[in-house]
Amino acid sequence: MTTYLVTGAAGFIGSALVRHLVARGGAGSRLDTAADTSGDDGAFDRASDRSDEAVRVVSVDAFTYAADPERLRSAGGEPAHRLVRLDVNDVAGVSALLDEERPAVVFHLAAETHVDRSIDGPGAFLQANTVGTFNLLEAVRRYWQGLPAAERAAFRLVNVSTDEVYGSLGPTGVFDESSPYAPRSPYSASKAAADHFAGAYFHTFGLPVMTTHAANNYGPFQFPEKLVPLAINRALAGESVPMYGDGAQVRDWLHVDDHARGLVAVAERGAPGATYLMGGGHELPNRALLERLLGHLNDLAPGRGDYRRLIRSVADRPGHDRRYAVDSSRAEAELGWRRRVPFDDGLRDTVRWYVENQAWVRSVTERYDLGRLGLGVAAGGARRP
Ligand SMILES: NC(=O)c1ccc[n+]([C@@H]2O[C@H](COP(=O)([O-])OP(=O)(O)OC[C@H]3O[C@@H](n4cnc5c(N)ncnc54)[C@H](O)[C@@H]3O)[C@@H](O)[C@H]2O)c1
Repeated sequence: MTTYLVTGAAGFIGSALVRHLVARGGAGSRLDTAADTSGDDGAFDRASDRSDEAVRVVSVDAFTYAADPERLRSAGGEPAHRLVRLDVNDVAGVSALLDEERPAVVFHLAAETHVDRSIDGPGAFLQANTVGTFNLLEAVRRYWQGLPAAERAAFRLVNVSTDEVYGSLGPTGVFDESSPYAPRSPYSASKAAADHFAGAYFHTFGLPVMTTHAANNYGPFQFPEKLVPLAINRALAGESVPMYGDGAQVRDWLHVDDHARGLVAVAERGAPGATYLMGGGHELPNRALLERLLGHLNDLAPGRGDYRRLIRSVADRPGHDRRYAVDSSRAEAELGWRRRVPFDDGLRDTVRWYVENQAWVRSVTERYDLGRLGLGVAAGGARRP
């Protein structure tokens, strides 16, 4: 039996990882990240992802506004899955859970993640992302140092960071593992500081931690303040679809299921102390992304005119990074990681998912005002763009 502990498990990516880990548990063939280069719809082909071993997943989350246990419903309950409400800053609580569950791998995803919110309230990002990662590292270090030799040698911690720590690119070039850190938002600065602690714990204590830097994720169950679900949901409601500034900011889009598979590949085959970048191989200016996803909406929820007419340019985000692009060659060469979800299929499936799951969208947004954030004024003065 292999036990995994996932922090931030009730969030968008953490829950996709938990669903993936639980689904691959039990008898069957080994996880096969290398074999599938066909570009087929492998994202949803769980059979080829099965593990030989029984799997237990311990989901940890502090349940901030961004969490939702519904994302974990299909992961089921004991013995394969346990959900624990816990803040990663609670060192005693995390230590006790580690001692009780004895995970072989910890995936650390708990974080405050919305850049706009980090502009309005950076302190929460420092506490959750930097101090939270430090406290998790402390709890994991004590646990790891107390393990018997064989378990200590096999243990891995995967620190999930972001490509945003590398700052902003010009029209050319890509980020890779040798790119210098140059964070430009309070969010990316808080993640960068956490990464430096993770690196320091590898070099100083030998803690087998790997750090990953993925591109922008998209897929089902993303909190509706983020660009893709926000645009779909506003368009479905007949509201304007805000586009920050000129919409020429370029992002690289990675399907959340491909990211989840990449994190497992890092845990299984990554070198302790190494970093890995995972991109979507699909750069797109924000305006083109909005036009493409609203084009899919025209097909999937017809009868309300061309949704693309709803795009409105609004004041740009202060310090908005112009371009991110990610070179994934190390993850491909060293881990055998391959993206399986072709971007257009993934985007269309994602649009369909939000159309079909408006009840979920309502359930997470009814307690939350989706007004404009991140203009550098205090949060709470939220208003619609
Ligand atoms: N979304 C992306 O495009 C993207 C890309 C690259 C990397 N990442 C990283 O992946 C991770 C997950 O991102 P996401 O998009 O799923 O975010 P999310 O906001 O959907 O989920 C984050 C989860 O962390 C939990 N959390 C926050 N503070 C916590 C604390 N102190 N203790 C325990 N849990 C806490 C929240 O309750 C939430 O469930 C983050 O570390 C993020 O920086 C995200």
